[in-house]
Amino acid sequence: MVAAAGVAEAPTSFNLRNSPLPSNPKYRFFLLLLLLLFFSSWSILIRSLGRPCVNRRRTFVAKTNVVAVTTTDDHSHGRGIDGGVMNIYDKVGDPKPTGRCHVRNMSVYVYDLPSKFNSDLLRNCTRLNRYRNLCPDVVNHGLGQPLSVEANTPTKEPIWFAPYQFAAEEIFHARMLNHPCRTNDPARANLFYVPFYGGFHMSSMGRETNYTARDELAVQLAEHVEQQQPWWGRRNGKDHFMVLGRTAWDFMRPDHRQAVDYGPNTLLTLPAVRNMSVFVVERHPSEGNNQLGIPYPSYFHPYTVDQVRDWQRKVAGSSRPYLFSYIGARRKEGVAAAIRDELMQQCSESEHCMLLNCTADASKCSDPKEVLRVMMASRFCLQPRGDSFTRRSVFDSLLAGCLPVLFSRHTAYTQYQMYLPENTTSYSVFLWEDEKMISDNGSRKVNIEDELMKIGSGKVEEMRKVVVDLIPRLTFAHPNASGDKGFEDVVDVALSSLLRLVY
Ligand SMILES: *[C@@H]1O[C@H](CO)[C@@H](O)[C@H](O)[C@H]1NC(C)=O
Ligand SMILES: *[C@@H]1O[C@H](CO)[C@@H](O)[C@H](O)[C@H]1NC(C)=O
Ligand SMILES: *[C@@H]1O[C@H](CO)[C@@H](O)[C@H](O)[C@H]1NC(C)=O
Ligand SMILES: *[C@@H]1O[C@H](CO)[C@@H](O)[C@H](O)[C@H]1NC(C)=O
Ligand SMILES: *[C@@H]1O[C@H](CO)[C@@H](O)[C@H](O)[C@H]1NC(C)=O
Ligand SMILES: *[C@@H]1O[C@H](CO)[C@@H](O)[C@H](O)[C@H]1NC(C)=O
Ligand SMILES: *[C@@H]1O[C@H](CO)[C@@H](O)[C@H](O)[C@H]1NC(C)=O
Ligand SMILES: *[C@@H]1O[C@H](CO)[C@@H](O)[C@H](O)[C@H]1NC(C)=O
Repeated sequence: MVAAAGVAEAPTSFNLRNSPLPSNPKYRFFLLLLLLLFFSSWSILIRSLGRPCVNRRRTFVAKTNVVAVTTTDDHSHGRGIDGGVMNIYDKVGDPKPTGRCHVRNMSVYVYDLPSKFNSDLLRNCTRLNRYRNLCPDVVNHGLGQPLSVEANTPTKEPIWFAPYQFAAEEIFHARMLNHPCRTNDPARANLFYVPFYGGFHMSSMGRETNYTARDELAVQLAEHVEQQQPWWGRRNGKDHFMVLGRTAWDFMRPDHRQAVDYGPNTLLTLPAVRNMSVFVVERHPSEGNNQLGIPYPSYFHPYTVDQVRDWQRKVAGSSRPYLFSYIGARRKEGVAAAIRDELMQQCSESEHCMLLNCTADASKCSDPKEVLRVMMASRFCLQPRGDSFTRRSVFDSLLAGCLPVLFSRHTAYTQYQMYLPENTTSYSVFLWEDEKMISDNGSRKVNIEDELMKIGSGKVEEMRKVVVDLIPRLTFAHPNASGDKGFEDVVDVALSSLLRLVY
């Protein structure tokens, strides 16, 4: 049983148990009853006060007849595809958002796209990625498998998951279907969401050598949106948006790239898509004018502001015996390899650094509990670029209250302006530019331990406070959370920023 309290042996320095409930079952029951009464009357009150900005009738985007699965009691991969029935897809069903739209004047229409653009891709989850079977990852609205941590108490829906790092498009979609600012009337909408699972599609076609075939669905998507009149024509698509869970590079194959290949298609270069706004986990720093960076999904997916506050308290109070930590694997070549070798070297030589060598110990590095344990025991977390500029781990470290140490501006500063403070030194440290390290033959390197030691503990506390305050907006709330959840999450920030940009 994943959700059972007491199963996970959390180390003493990192204990995810945050249930405020007493352990005696009798008291627990009465307290729950009281809480339930309190919350239901409270939500009735709120709903009678606030005029919802959406009408109530909801239809699910893709009409699929797949059976929802419960995922709290089984971790085995590939589950749900036996017997020829693909139980891999959580039908969102008929979500009835509770609560009101808190963003003034916002009204978002979600296109009901043909299922080949989204849910059909999930049904083919065994073929979405050439390296792994994504069937266990696309369940739970893209949140994947619940973590076996004590904070996932058996009495409540789990809020800790291990999502696939490129699943943002599916999670975002599920949040939007249930979003209180959603409207079913396009005439009343001022934003239009096109829920294409472009990232899943891209990775499923990465090996296709016939470029026409590889791009086909993206081209059809562009044609489809242009046909949505009069809505598209009103502003030539400027009020339309899309969300992609992979980096922009995966959708910007240059025309001339016929020989060298790493799988991308041309989605982001299509004229219709260039007129839209596109949320991506990594934008192209110079050519991505219509691209807006959104956080990678991390592990925490709360329903309520109280759950957020519990976590913030835990993070703020965590004891951090290590000055810094590095969690990473080696890379074969290029800037990423050079910087990673350097960081691994310095970390292993410092007695104040906690090293998780993912080349040696891949299973620890892919265990979210282990990753969070290390990050919550460290004041600073070294964050070199990943395979591209950005790295999901940056968001894991912010979630754990560990101050990121960055080596490229494109790892965060030029990416997530909607989410992170403009003053980069208020929450992060920039030691040297990784590119320079290569071009200057290493002369730009500094001793990381020395540099981080220079930052006084008062300053560290101050920065950590900034990071802890950022946690809610860097978090994807659970897609089933109510509109009155009491905090702004990734999706809320994306929508209100976009509204300001478009109008
Ligand atoms: C989310 O809500 C849908 C119905 O809107 C329901 O079918 C599903 O089980 C819920 N999922 C969770 C994890 O609560
Ligand atoms: C709300 O939207 C309408 C139509 O889109 C616009 O005319 C009006 O000025 C907006 N009001 C505010 C306060 O932004
Ligand atoms: C699943 O993938 C196979 C092989 O690529 C394809 O023939 C089939 O049409 C796909 N099914 C769906 C529902 O997309
Ligand atoms: C490439 O794919 C397209 C679209 O699926 C198809 O029409 C065309 O015949 C294919 N070309 C080759 C050389 O196979
Ligand atoms: C994109 O917008 C421009 C004007 O901003 C318009 O001329 C063009 O037709 C639009 N493209 C599409 C495909 O709608
Ligand atoms: C990390 O692990 C790899 C593989 O075991 C090993 O070759 C390398 O030396 C390790 N690096 C450090 C700094 O310990
Ligand atoms: C940025 O933040 C740092 C640390 O919080 C502070 O010392 C500095 O004055 C700030 N700079 C600006 C321009 O606000
Ligand atoms: C780096 O070192 C190589 C040989 O070791 C040398 O040829 C090159 O000029 C150096 N580059 C810089 C920028 O110092």
